[in-house]
Amino acid sequence: MSTNSFVFDTLVEGCYQTQWEAPSNIALVKYWGKYGQQLPQNPSISFTLSRCVTTTEVSFSPREDDAEAFDFLFDQKKQPEFHPKIQQFLDRITPYFPALERHHLSISSHNSFPHSSGIASSASAMAALALCIVDFEKQFHSDWTEEVFLQKASFLARLGSGSAARSIEGPLMVWGQSEAFSQSNDHYAIAPSVDWHPVFHDYQDTVLIVDKGQKKVSSTMGHGLMKGHPFATQRFEQAHTHLEQLKTALITGDLERFIDLTEAEALCLHAMMMTSNPRFVLMQPNTMAILQKVGDFRNQTQLPLCFTLDAGANVHLLYPLQYRIPIMDFLQKELINHCQQGQYIEDQVGNGAKKI
Ligand code: PMV
Repeated sequence: MSTNSFVFDTLVEGCYQTQWEAPSNIALVKYWGKYGQQLPQNPSISFTLSRCVTTTEVSFSPREDDAEAFDFLFDQKKQPEFHPKIQQFLDRITPYFPALERHHLSISSHNSFPHSSGIASSASAMAALALCIVDFEKQFHSDWTEEVFLQKASFLARLGSGSAARSIEGPLMVWGQSEAFSQSNDHYAIAPSVDWHPVFHDYQDTVLIVDKGQKKVSSTMGHGLMKGHPFATQRFEQAHTHLEQLKTALITGDLERFIDLTEAEALCLHAMMMTSNPRFVLMQPNTMAILQKVGDFRNQTQLPLCFTLDAGANVHLLYPLQYRIPIMDFLQKELINHCQQGQYIEDQVGNGAKKI
């Protein structure tokens, strides 16, 4: 589908109120490096989460030319520090929904997970806002199918934050053109119609909070580090290969292969940051201690526990639901001391965003 098919001549005006809940997601094959307007240099695949969500309500009303484009409440409070990001998002998406220029948006948002827990909320936040906006637009397009609606929501969410494109459906989302998935493309994410092995339908993601602080490298800067990176070409090729291999493991339920590829991806993301110019080490001593203990635990118990990482120090523990008890026991005995204030968040794979 060409991006032009996302521009509709919507000479529309009206009042509308809607509320959406969108989940966070955790990438297994990582997106790191972009081109053009928020397009990925390589394809990625993620688990959609179910408990870490953003709920956003938007009231649309016609506005005068010189009136503010939006007002914004986070947890019922004014939070002006979020305004530049929202304004940038609205500026980017207005060409794809011109009627936005003639409306005021009253936005109110809430996260289910603690603010400044070190969990990036931009994916769920941008997805929830995009869904509210597309829901408004849909009122003027009775011909839209569910598929068009979801594609456009992902397309707009991507313009807010790349990984937000994957926070629309579930349980697994692919974003970026890949030989392995026929409908995949760089403009929006898809939930492939593939029979994933049942073990992955309720896979656990327990996020160990090693550092609750702000991200040390912003996403924009981080992706920028891949421009002219000495290993960029190899990394982008590797992501394609990993995605193909991971697809097979996700269908067959080959946990050994799943673990091998998932951990390789996490470490490669950090290897890219450690070898860029400027370079960044985002793992902390507690991160390393956890990774070491996870490997030792797996060797000793033969239980399929593995880790993945985002662009930060926190560790996501991934494992099948059936091993929750021994793994939580291990977490309490061995890992919790490495978490800031003993904090961790329990989540699991979910099925995507919901209208409230
Ligand atoms: O969506 P962004 O621009 O914040 O980038 C996210 C990048 C990673 O979280 C590190 C990887 C990914 O694919 O989600």
